[in-house]
Amino acid sequence: MCGIIGYCGPKPAAGLLLEGLKRLEYRGYDSAGICVQAEGGGPLSLYKRKGKIRELIPLVPEELAGSCGIGHTRWATHGEVTDQNAHPHLDCSGRIAVAHNGIIENYLSLREKLASEGHRFASETDSEVIAHLIEKYYSGDLMEAVRRALALLKGTYGIVCLHRDHPDRLVGARQGSPLVVGIGHGESFLASDVTAIIGHTKQVVYLEDGELVCLTPEELRTTDLKDQEIQKKVEPVSWELEQIEKGGFAHFMEKEIFEQPESIKRAMGGRIDLEQATAHLGGLNMSNRDLLNVERVRIVAAGTSWHAGLVGMYLLESIARIPCTVEIASELRYRNPVVERNTLHFVVSQSGETIDSLYAMRELQRKGATVLGICNVVGSTIPRESNGGVYIHSGPEIAVASTKAFTSQITVFYLFSLLLGRMRDLSADAGSAFIRDLASIPAKVEAILAGSRGIRELARRYCHYQHFLFLGRGINYPVAMEGALKLKEISYIHAEGYSASELKHGPIALIGEETPCLFLVPDDGLRDKLLSNIKEVKARRGRVIAVCAQGDNEVRGIADDVIEVPRVHETFNPFLMVVPLQLLAYYAALELGRDVDQPRNLAKSVTVE
Ligand code: AGP
Repeated sequence: MCGIIGYCGPKPAAGLLLEGLKRLEYRGYDSAGICVQAEGGGPLSLYKRKGKIRELIPLVPEELAGSCGIGHTRWATHGEVTDQNAHPHLDCSGRIAVAHNGIIENYLSLREKLASEGHRFASETDSEVIAHLIEKYYSGDLMEAVRRALALLKGTYGIVCLHRDHPDRLVGARQGSPLVVGIGHGESFLASDVTAIIGHTKQVVYLEDGELVCLTPEELRTTDLKDQEIQKKVEPVSWELEQIEKGGFAHFMEKEIFEQPESIKRAMGGRIDLEQATAHLGGLNMSNRDLLNVERVRIVAAGTSWHAGLVGMYLLESIARIPCTVEIASELRYRNPVVERNTLHFVVSQSGETIDSLYAMRELQRKGATVLGICNVVGSTIPRESNGGVYIHSGPEIAVASTKAFTSQITVFYLFSLLLGRMRDLSADAGSAFIRDLASIPAKVEAILAGSRGIRELARRYCHYQHFLFLGRGINYPVAMEGALKLKEISYIHAEGYSASELKHGPIALIGEETPCLFLVPDDGLRDKLLSNIKEVKARRGRVIAVCAQGDNEVRGIADDVIEVPRVHETFNPFLMVVPLQLLAYYAALELGRDVDQPRNLAKSVTVE
């Protein structure tokens, strides 16, 4: 997704902007640019081009003066990936520069009208109309001109702009695309997320939809679209910069896979009540009586978060005995969903900005639903608009491929299932046993990570296949889908996740030497059926990799390759089944020379439909 940064203060802006854009690279982009205001109202200096930031840096003169500027990384939505289409965009006079995240849905009609009034466009983008609208309405007050321009826009935006007449200020605004203000000492920042500015300040102000901000190095003025002043709270950022750095690992993805023993502990931290053998989730904003009235749960998400929701469904039905359904956010949103009383909704989203999930939540809330968020990024839009929720506390997840967020998301579902289960049929003893099993997971994950070398060897031997089937049953079926998603999204190898029982209903036609099957076959109640499925594949000369419980020699006897994981109560296998799949995907992508942290065509947070 696109990234935005703005700076005004005493320091040269160019270097700060480029550094901030580099911290936003993980969001995925295809072009980048900066615009710096010369001292004392001199001309704007604009540098932008397609490609990576490392290709932009040489264009920017090292001695470039100017202490107020904006920067942008673009992920193309309207218009090809070209230098001209990169942001920032200027108005006709070259006195106004704008960087924009989001989509202006009515840009064509606006562009036609502006062109008929004599405005000349330099790009094919929707975003450029904003610069010309500000130009049209500017008569000395930049914030007023921006407000009038925004009033004509339909769609989503997070923007930052500057004007040559105001060499010490920036104006920003948000509608559906996040924007955060950084408050420094005698300097101010604007960014699409805190990652870009955390190295300079940890005091931030989160903008809400419909808000504008005017920044100078010393002050901040926030209003709504009707110019009504809004008092905003300055909040501390809890993340440290080093949490964002790679910490000695080759890639963020590797770091985040190996961080899971800690991140799972953080997700549990302070939420387990040993004495009552239950869990406490403070952010739900629901009393036990409210929870008792919950008759069903609906979980809504996208991608990996959807897979986490599917694991949650198995848990809520098996542990809490409560009916649960799981929906793909973009499907639910446009299906005119039925919202029933006493249904508790969850939206699961690592970034808290996925537009499909955000709009699905708003649609449910419009119909009167109570929607809780299960998110990672504090202060992101979904948790701020939801009716409450639970942060997963996995720390910043930078790699596009989600790994530690998945295991932290399901951790929250384990805790919520325990909480609801102990309000229903789960006895104190059963609750205590559940807690013991859950508490054993970090160490068991650690043990799997310690065996990563063997998985790397396996990846080396299998990474040249073009097709894979990932097969699991029961609570591990969603994990099979998650493993397939990991492999395809970072190694670009085609992979499909299936319920192993579905093999005979079609996919078995694919079995042959050219399509390896990876089976999740823990020591649980479905193991024997999975053994039969493996034999069906072997009978058709299919190659089989099996992830199984330590010491399962029967599986070892029939599979071509085996990854053994520690034994645990069958309810908790998703934690132990997913980690080898994450590693397999990572090492396969590495072997194939892929851009592991920023795979092609993908973005960390999909904030456009
Ligand atoms: C997962 O590896 C992908 N990056 C993608 O499917 C992601 O899970 C999806 O876009 C949802 O993102 P969210 O959790 O931030 O809402």
